[in-house]
Amino acid sequence: MGLMPSLNTPGPSHFHKGIVLAGGRGTRLYPLTLATSKQLLPIYDKPMVFYPLSVLMLMGIRDILFITTPADLPSFRRVLGDGAHLGVSFSYVTQDAPRGLADAFRVGADFIGDDNVVLILGDNLFYGQGLEHMLRTAASFPDGATIFTYPVNDPRAFGVAELNPDGTVRSLEEKPDKPRSRNAVTGLYFYDNKVVEYARSLSPSARGELEITDLNRRYLATGALRALRFGRGFAWLDTGTCESLLRAASFIEAVQTRQGFKIACLEEIAFRRGFIDLKQLAALAAKMPNTYGAYLRLLLEEEDESPQG
Ligand code: TTP
Repeated sequence: MGLMPSLNTPGPSHFHKGIVLAGGRGTRLYPLTLATSKQLLPIYDKPMVFYPLSVLMLMGIRDILFITTPADLPSFRRVLGDGAHLGVSFSYVTQDAPRGLADAFRVGADFIGDDNVVLILGDNLFYGQGLEHMLRTAASFPDGATIFTYPVNDPRAFGVAELNPDGTVRSLEEKPDKPRSRNAVTGLYFYDNKVVEYARSLSPSARGELEITDLNRRYLATGALRALRFGRGFAWLDTGTCESLLRAASFIEAVQTRQGFKIACLEEIAFRRGFIDLKQLAALAAKMPNTYGAYLRLLLEEEDESPQG
């Protein structure tokens, strides 16, 4: 099995299902999250969950499971529905207690079936040039697992990957006091179907959670874990604290205002990916009597003016 990404155009995708993990308590954001799911809080002009969801849709995944708390499920359904309006399929399952990130593969086992699966955390935001190529590269590997690392100033709050000079993973640690590298493991993971069996056999850690780091270590132990690196020109933000929430909102506002392009606009992605047609996009735009709708209407006009359109 090749562990290293090829520099050539990646082959076809082996990943057609994605899970957005959007449960948890959001305790660091209390009182903001006493009555609202963290992942539905605004990041500037969209609910937080749009950002990780957009990553799955960008890579062409149309079969998506949301894992939420029982209390928040109706709100997620109100915001996202069954996905038909975006030409995709959304399903939902609840996690009755936050048993850890690796619990996603127990709770989501029926959804995964015999397939490979991408997991993305509902509070992670990825943005930057080269993202789609990285996603296509990871999706081109039929087996094993792929994680993505990102250099951070203080890695102690994250899973940390120590990498060999050739880019393969030497060690993985969860929230180490003395990190062996600055490479945080981000909240985006590609797994082959073995993940279901591995997750079933995990025991809770000292802090009582089913750790995704333990799951990744299982892959590491059989030489089946690869890491792709997001570089310094890339933005990976997580949004679990008040400060990071504000920073993420400011970042999105600054980039969008400067460029005139929206980040993580699901309707736009669905249209550009061919999941929905012009008429469907027009119907979505008509439902938004605000600047969000105006942005969608601008896309419609551009399409009318394009040589093909
Ligand atoms: P965390 O930020 O680690 O946990 P949290 O969201 O509960 O927040 P806090 O630490 O402030 O209490 O979770 C990362 C993401 O994973 C987030 O989107 C919530 C989600 N999650 C679950 O859905 N189930 C879980 O069991 C855990 C631990 C997290």
